[in-house]
Amino acid sequence: MSNLINAIRGMNDLLPSETALWQSVEQTLRDTLSTFGYQEIRLPILEKTEVFERAIGKATDIVEKEMYTFLDRNNESLTLRPEGTASCVRAGIEHGLFYNQVQRLWYMGPHFRYERPQKGRYRQFYQCGAEAVGLEGPDIDAELILLSAKILDKLGLTPYVTLQLNSLGSSVARLTYRELLVNYFIQNQNQLDEDSQRRLMTNPLRILDSKNPDMQKLIANAPTLIDHLDLESAEHFGKLQTYLTSAELPYKINPYLVRGLDYYSRTVFEWVTTELGAQGTVCAGGRYDGLVEQLGGKRTPALGFAMGLERILLMVQQVAKKSMINKPDVYFITEGEDALKLAFKLADTVRNGMPKLRVILHCGGGSLKNQFKKADKSGAEVVLILGEQELKEKKISLKLLRKSMPQVSILQDDLIKYLYAREEFRDIC
Ligand code: HAM
Repeated sequence: MSNLINAIRGMNDLLPSETALWQSVEQTLRDTLSTFGYQEIRLPILEKTEVFERAIGKATDIVEKEMYTFLDRNNESLTLRPEGTASCVRAGIEHGLFYNQVQRLWYMGPHFRYERPQKGRYRQFYQCGAEAVGLEGPDIDAELILLSAKILDKLGLTPYVTLQLNSLGSSVARLTYRELLVNYFIQNQNQLDEDSQRRLMTNPLRILDSKNPDMQKLIANAPTLIDHLDLESAEHFGKLQTYLTSAELPYKINPYLVRGLDYYSRTVFEWVTTELGAQGTVCAGGRYDGLVEQLGGKRTPALGFAMGLERILLMVQQVAKKSMINKPDVYFITEGEDALKLAFKLADTVRNGMPKLRVILHCGGGSLKNQFKKADKSGAEVVLILGEQELKEKKISLKLLRKSMPQVSILQDDLIKYLYAREEFRDIC
């Protein structure tokens, strides 16, 4: 037994009982990204360490203490990607994708950070990221945020997430603000915790992100960046808000949202939830207009976001237990051998006519009453009933299980037409 080798801490096996849900969520992501015109880019899991050091910033937690970095056999320093934006920009520059072009790209896969594992925080975690390169915004900022909202909506998570928004302004405005902030914290240095003392000179904006309860009063009284934006960034941010409001997407301005990576400028946003405890950010991103240049390309505006798939999956499991993943839409019950024989065909007609509906044909016999109970327990919206009477009349009965509506009997030939005419099904199809 002592010879057993376990997985590395914070790196999860995904077992067969879990993969169906993963596949379903991944498919929703791919489909939605595609409907917004985003194309997949597949990137290496390893990059030269310099890619991340230059992009994310040497004074960030990720680069300082969370990267899996090692020397290869050729003594070159390589790093397992801790995030996707740096790799995506590196690849775009290398292959000339950004040269006078607009790109809408997405990627999905494992990323690696040496963090303390806990619920929703792992050392290998999956991200799905989207990056829009070549547009100044703020229209693309709104469109990208609406894309993230659409994905969350398709996953049934809208009621459980809040959009937080901030602007970090231009790099020049941020420098001026940085000075102001450092002065403020120096004046109150005795109230800074150890972590913040350290950040004061390296990355003072990150102090605003501190979760230490003892620091909250100090942070609340600090000058905010949003009050010190340059004119252009303020206009950009104002317009973005107008677009989101007219698209009826609610948001909250969070002046303390600064993000943990150095490449951001102007718009930053996070989708947060209270459903997951401490690790409540399920999606995060923003604009990084300086990054392409920083990695050796021509100055190119860009922005993007990434979702943490474990957190998304946890939420889907936790708050959307009744989600479409496990429950059928239609449960088909029958009475007698002849009805069962015809039901195989009819169930398939429904599957072919409405390919996204999940149709379970009851197997294992039993009385209609018992089958009806099973239908109800399955969570299905609809039960289709093919009894002896229906069989004789070439009809099929249909009852909505979750809404009060009398049972209806329709011609078998009209079944698909009938389902299409009802809003409940049109939504799923
Ligand atoms: P990030 O905020 O570092 O941003 O990560 C994005 C999301 O990945 C987080 O909101 C979270 O859901 C998930 N995540 C991060 N670390 C972990 C972890 N250790 N365990 C589980 N989930 C985690 C970025 O990575 C940027 N590249 C996002 C971006 C794309 N900005 C512009 N384009």
